[in-house]
Amino acid sequence: MAPKEVYKQLTAECRKIGILGSCASVLGWEERTYMPRGGRRLRADQLGLISAMHHEMFTSPKIGEWLSQLESSDLVKDPDSIEAANIRELKWEYNKRAKLPTDLVEAITKETSIAQGIWQEARAKKDFKMFAPNLEKVIDLTIQKAEAYGYEGEPYNALLDDYEPGTTVKDVEAAFGGLRDDLVVLLDKIKGAPKKPDKSIVERAYDVDKQKIFGESVAAAIGFDFNIGRLDITTHPFCSGFGPGDTRITTRYNPDRLNDALFGTMHEAGHALYEMGINKKEHFGMPAGESASLGIHESQSRMWENQVGRSKPFWNYFFPQAQRIFKESLGDVKLDDFYGAVNNVEPSYIRVEADEATYNLHILLRFEIERAIVKREIKIADIPGEWDSRFEKYFGIKVDNIANGCLQDVHWAAGLFGYFPTYSLGNLYSAMFFDQAKKEMPDIYEQFERGEFLTLRNWLKEKIHQHGFRYRAAELCKKVTGKELSHKPLMKYMTEKYSEIYGF
Ligand code: CO
Repeated sequence: MAPKEVYKQLTAECRKIGILGSCASVLGWEERTYMPRGGRRLRADQLGLISAMHHEMFTSPKIGEWLSQLESSDLVKDPDSIEAANIRELKWEYNKRAKLPTDLVEAITKETSIAQGIWQEARAKKDFKMFAPNLEKVIDLTIQKAEAYGYEGEPYNALLDDYEPGTTVKDVEAAFGGLRDDLVVLLDKIKGAPKKPDKSIVERAYDVDKQKIFGESVAAAIGFDFNIGRLDITTHPFCSGFGPGDTRITTRYNPDRLNDALFGTMHEAGHALYEMGINKKEHFGMPAGESASLGIHESQSRMWENQVGRSKPFWNYFFPQAQRIFKESLGDVKLDDFYGAVNNVEPSYIRVEADEATYNLHILLRFEIERAIVKREIKIADIPGEWDSRFEKYFGIKVDNIANGCLQDVHWAAGLFGYFPTYSLGNLYSAMFFDQAKKEMPDIYEQFERGEFLTLRNWLKEKIHQHGFRYRAAELCKKVTGKELSHKPLMKYMTEKYSEIYGF
């Protein structure tokens, strides 16, 4: 068969596999939004079965044969072509997945589905012991997965590679080391600063229905298209891009705090814009129809949440509207005070509610602990103690209860070891991309002041979204910004912003 024909067959088969995967995504979304508690076991079985089918389809010998044929064909002659990238990344993924036995894949899906339910209860009851046996199973399976993949150095490398292809612990450590040192300096300056924002402004009564209206209007303004997307409520917000024409985001409303839902919605909308900007119509099921990495994904969400949503120009435009909608809580507030309040920096327990500066400390802490867990240097029963003592060292405050400590995140229950670093990588990439955007569009802030956000959105679509996984994260970063990953742009951006707000 001619290579073009083989490629066509491969594309058709991958599309089928993609459709099966999207069925699992719909079930996963529903599990976290509307499913009654009683449905847990059945859902675990449904997802387990689909993941096993998905795995068998993707790792079938015929795909391996097609890829081998294509690898030495004319289609890969130009390594920059979409075909070459698709073949390269599929081969990489195929080689990796084929090492996993189907029963391990199914067991991981089932156990993590059950563990997430138990985790939710354990967190509500502040009871680690209740969750420990499930966590133990998940960790055992995760380590089995890493061993099956194989790795250089330490097992964590194998896990990280699932979320950030091509990135190693060494790369992460190089970026995080400088970040840690510079953050300590910045946080010290903030602590001793003469000015302090009044955060109580955003901790007044904010009617949930009004928050919903405001949040949706902001999401629409930055380009979230409600014809091909939905916004629902959940406990742990996420975005799910099912495929062409259907991208879902979720949020949670706190009647006594404006930040959670507003910036959470902008964050997830940022993820959704990426999903909506990938050319899935043409490439669904192939690497070019997927995101480049979780770090790149997070760079998009964090940019809209922070570089845009927590900027002065953004609020120059939106604050009068917010004042009209939340008259009782914001009617008497000045723009500058509000801007300070949404940018308040303060050590806190919960990662997802953390400010831009301390957020990365939360990630450094998790990176450190989960690496040690995977190396079996920390025993399951010792996780709470290890967490609490390291937390105090990083943040200078004592964990008051376990729901505010190691039980706060769903990731470990979900088997997502190796995932946390992608959040901080996302922060680093977002600052680099936004710097470049400002360089290429010097009037970007003036545009924000006029309520125009689509120029930035279109720029991101052209430079990042449309490529899907045609380039790996490091290469994409180089292509867009001309530079290698660095923590410096993020630190520069934060230092400039906070020195103005805090007066240091
Ligand atoms: Co995110």
